[in-house]
Amino acid sequence: MASVVSPAEGIAVGPTKLLINNKWVSSKSGKTFPTLNPATGEEICRVAEADSADVDEAVKAARHAFEQGPWHKMNASERGRLMNRLADLMEKHADELARLEALDNGKPYAVARAADVPLSIACYRYYAGWADKVHGKTIPVNGNYFCYTRHEPVGVVGQIIPWNFPLLMQAWKLGPALSTGNTVILKPAEQTPLTALRVGELALEAGYPEGVLNILPGYGPTAGAAIARHWDVDKVAFTGSTEVGKLIMEAAAQSNLKRVTLELGGKSPNIVFADADMEETIEGCHFALFFNQGQCCCAGSRLFVEEKIYDEFVERSAARARRRTVGDPFDPKTEQGPQVDQDQFDKVMGYIESGKKQGAKLVAGGARVGDRGYFIQPTVFADVQDEMKIAQEEIFGPVMSIIKFKSVDEVVQRANKTMYGLAAAVWTRDITKAHSVANSVRAGTVWVNCYDVFDAAAPFGGFKQSGIGRELGEYGLQNYTEIKTVTVKL
Ligand code: NAI
Ligand code: MG
Repeated sequence: MASVVSPAEGIAVGPTKLLINNKWVSSKSGKTFPTLNPATGEEICRVAEADSADVDEAVKAARHAFEQGPWHKMNASERGRLMNRLADLMEKHADELARLEALDNGKPYAVARAADVPLSIACYRYYAGWADKVHGKTIPVNGNYFCYTRHEPVGVVGQIIPWNFPLLMQAWKLGPALSTGNTVILKPAEQTPLTALRVGELALEAGYPEGVLNILPGYGPTAGAAIARHWDVDKVAFTGSTEVGKLIMEAAAQSNLKRVTLELGGKSPNIVFADADMEETIEGCHFALFFNQGQCCCAGSRLFVEEKIYDEFVERSAARARRRTVGDPFDPKTEQGPQVDQDQFDKVMGYIESGKKQGAKLVAGGARVGDRGYFIQPTVFADVQDEMKIAQEEIFGPVMSIIKFKSVDEVVQRANKTMYGLAAAVWTRDITKAHSVANSVRAGTVWVNCYDVFDAAAPFGGFKQSGIGRELGEYGLQNYTEIKTVTVKL
């Protein structure tokens, strides 16, 4: 379809309509919504706005594809081949995808090019490999019976993704779903619909059959909710806020008990012992918090530092934050771009105010950068107490909270005092301490002397209110298959 070119940046924007049954269509209501460039606050273009009527249409197409289309008879190996072809096409257009991601989300282009795009491609390739390797068991039951299990696709799957890693979240969702033979209705976040649509276009080129992959940009309470409560959607996978995760579960319960997997928020403890390599740890903790403008569900946002090194650590972390370069996402020197939108900007600035009011010590940043776009200074608070709002709630922005601790037992207990359980990290040269903390922290991922190390093969997800189920790796496949037991009398 004809592509819009964003006037300011000269970047080809790609498709801006809904992808339903392999056709680009306007929404039934005719409505569109703007997507903005977070670096300027200006509109990039308008995108078709899906609502429940469009969701109905997409679900029909996905159901047909699942039950009658070529998809349901396709060899598993062919599903893998299609996915590798999509990965090939993304590789071919890697630069363009990275530019579009930076334009729509505000993240530095260099980061999108070095991380988001290759990691997304790796995820598709990883799950392409699984397509013909997911299978059941034969089971030695009592009596003269032949008993075996089949791992069958769940069916029509709704997937609702956030704006912080648009390409990568799409890959985490589509990878396991399509690999195992499901059909999909994917709703990108309203802040960042453009790369999802461009990948949809590449999937058409790769040759996915009609109805297998439907992409519906739109808002959460309308399009998203319509997916969650739909009677003919067999499973919903969601990444976003804990608040909306609960709504999704409610909608699933009140409709057809569709399967639910959730990847939600976090307030991850990042624990630094006095014996850690200081230089490496300061840089690692800086990355753990400030990566992606602080907009990471697993950000190391409760930074616990042992008393003995606390003052030096605070001082050096503040100095590092002050050196962080904030600015134009397309400038190669930029480490940090804008927050994604005005809402997120306001939310983060609100937390900075709250930190000051509740008596935390502001040692770096704290203010807006420039007067257009949604840029915020890398901000560091010291003397943060456990009960302060900035130590309890997900800020989702470039605000580091450094908290003091004395002993291992004490810090583990305090680390676990949260409704979340997504990730944690520990920095130490003592392997006994490292493993003891890794075992005691209630979190789905623990990093030791590193942070944000992701791999398509390694599962990720939350304990407690950080979510339900795991994504990535072999574990990630479980959410996309139903187990069928077949027993044959011999
Ligand atoms: P959100 O949870 O509202 O949005 C995430 C996705 O859910 C978007 O696609 C949105 O359109 C959709 N959605 C919203 N309401 C829905 C509903 N009622 N039914 C179905 N789908 C719905 O998150 P938002 O407002 O973008 O950010 C708020 C906070 O959530 C952030 O400040 C951050 O703390 C957290 N968050 C966590 C993410 C994570 O990776 N776990 C990602 C994005 C946000
Ligand atoms: Mg945008």
